[in-house]
Amino acid sequence: MHFLIFLGSVRTSTPPRPARLGERVAKACLQVLGHAYPEHSFELIDPLDYSQDAIFKPHFAYAKSKVPDDLDALAQKIEQAHGYVMVSPEYNHSMSPALAHLLNHFGSSLFSFKPSAIVTYSAGQWGGMRAAVGMRTFLSELGCLPVSAMIHVPKAQEVFDEQGSVLAEASSDQ
Ligand SMILES: Cc1cc2nc3c(=O)[nH]c(=O)nc-3n(C[C@H](O)[C@H](O)[C@H](O)COP(=O)(O)O)c2cc1C
Repeated sequence: MHFLIFLGSVRTSTPPRPARLGERVAKACLQVLGHAYPEHSFELIDPLDYSQDAIFKPHFAYAKSKVPDDLDALAQKIEQAHGYVMVSPEYNHSMSPALAHLLNHFGSSLFSFKPSAIVTYSAGQWGGMRAAVGMRTFLSELGCLPVSAMIHVPKAQEVFDEQGSVLAEASSDQ
């Protein structure tokens, strides 16, 4: 089976440091899942790879011949995937606006009847768990019902390096 791992941050500015902590968390998911389930495939979806206009126009609102190529390619990936991992930071106790914006481009028919998993993180101590609560509603409406178990990573900058590997200090705390 094939799974998409959505990275939920486009933040390039600092502070707060480090910028786009989500890259580390999403890469960690890719590493761990690839290692644990070699019989399945996992693909990172980075919102920075998709040109999204300032004016919001969802995939399903375009005439078929006029859909931007990158948006159409992502729609096909979503439709063909068997499940999704949604990796989000917590911004003001809510899910990432970048992730919500990207997902809002696609109708629920592309996601329906396939499971999703919620992974949240933060630079602070709560690991994005308040964002995760709202994500359950969002993902249910999108048709990809989240599984019960969730992953929350507090102080993710102290847990993963830039490649998504567990930092030595973090693993020695276990
Ligand atoms: C606009 C904004 C709002 C934030 N709100 C929260 C919050 O509500 N709870 C929290 O734990 N961290 C919050 N943070 C800190 C983030 O957890 C931290 O900056 C993290 O690195 C964001 O992920 P990113 O770097 O992948 O964008 C906020 C950060 C920003 C930029």
